[in-house]
Amino acid sequence: MPAHPAANSETSLPRVLLTGGAGYLGSHTYVALREAGFEPVIVDNFSNSDPAVLQRLEQLTGQPVLCEPGDVGQTAWLSGVLQRHRVRAVIHFAGLKAVGESVQQPLRYYRTNVAGLLSLLEAMQGTTCRQLVFSSSATVYGEPASAPVNEDAPCAPQSPYAHSKWVGEQMLNALGVSEPSWQMGVLRYFNPVGAHPSGLIGEDPCDLPNNLMPLVSQVAVGRRSRLQVFGKDYATPDGTGVRDYVHVCDLAQGHVAAVQALLAGTPSFTLNLGTGRGSSVLELIRAFERASGRRIEFSFAARRPGDVATYFADVSRAREVLGWQATRGLDQMCRDAWHWQAGNPLGYRSGAPASAELGTHARQPVHRPPAGLQALPAMRA
Ligand SMILES: NC(=O)c1ccc[n+]([C@@H]2O[C@H](COP(=O)([O-])OP(=O)(O)OC[C@H]3O[C@@H](n4cnc5c(N)ncnc54)[C@H](O)[C@@H]3O)[C@@H](O)[C@H]2O)c1
Repeated sequence: MPAHPAANSETSLPRVLLTGGAGYLGSHTYVALREAGFEPVIVDNFSNSDPAVLQRLEQLTGQPVLCEPGDVGQTAWLSGVLQRHRVRAVIHFAGLKAVGESVQQPLRYYRTNVAGLLSLLEAMQGTTCRQLVFSSSATVYGEPASAPVNEDAPCAPQSPYAHSKWVGEQMLNALGVSEPSWQMGVLRYFNPVGAHPSGLIGEDPCDLPNNLMPLVSQVAVGRRSRLQVFGKDYATPDGTGVRDYVHVCDLAQGHVAAVQALLAGTPSFTLNLGTGRGSSVLELIRAFERASGRRIEFSFAARRPGDVATYFADVSRAREVLGWQATRGLDQMCRDAWHWQAGNPLGYRSGAPASAELGTHARQPVHRPPAGLQALPAMRA
């Protein structure tokens, strides 16, 4: 377990606990919270992240990182963390997120995503903190009949992962009914991509990537030879699936807006976070080729069961409730993803970038990739 002990220092800045704060979305939200004048505290068990991210966060923000290594399933310990840091609001990112894996290992997904949330809620009940932002997912909608999808569309989760998020939402609803003092912001993300423009933090799948953008960037950087595009005969302009890709820094700012709204007294809400625009797989590949100057080799394969042709968010409610909307387009998403991938071809396992200065904590050991990682076979897109 990494040793980045969190200081119990007094501070005038409001503290926000980020469970899973060392992960992809958590690390970018950490930076956005700092920029907005909050002091984030990370809780993470590093099951899907590298402790090296903590030094990058120190480097980016110029401030020591408060991190409590541990598992959200440890309720009493978590309650102690909340109290010790006088946490004002929590953003709950910690969870498992691979749809396919959840079909293979449903109990692990329910344990982490449902029991983990339950443990957090019980831990919070032992404190005065009642403000929570919950990472949900557009997968709760299942296969919507039409796009754009708004928050009133019926939910029909199709996988244990999606179902675990939907159950989490139901738990929050039930708690809100029984104890109206809770204020909860449920955020349903569409397809988060990209990286911080510094190139210091980004998406670093410990395992095989599940999403399109990391696969495209790994092909561009030479870690994979090609990718497969599933389906070329959908009823879309170029025949490939259309999705709502949203820049991770926009998403991070959406979380800051959600925390600010809750702390200002806004009642509980459920909101889509996306751009409200769809881009096809081929558009994304072409944009990435422009951004990287590299050719992305791909081949077409049969459609996958359950994939819908077009899927993008109605984002008007997020604009009304939070005053938030995404501002970054597909080209910037690809440029920033490429900047991260090119500077860190093996993610955080690449070691510190040449310009990186050490933070105030001792450097953690850098994990080297297992032999053969460079030559992984093509994966599905
Ligand atoms: N990235 C996406 O495409 C996407 C889309 C929709 C929803 N989400 C949800 O957003 C959240 C964050 O996603 P992400 O992409 O940053 O994932 P991630 O895997 O990069 O980050 C999750 C973090 O949580 C930590 N974690 C996992 N289980 C934990 C536990 N029991 N205790 C403490 N820490 C634990 C991991 O080590 C990791 O650092 C997840 O809940 C995910 O389901 C993500």
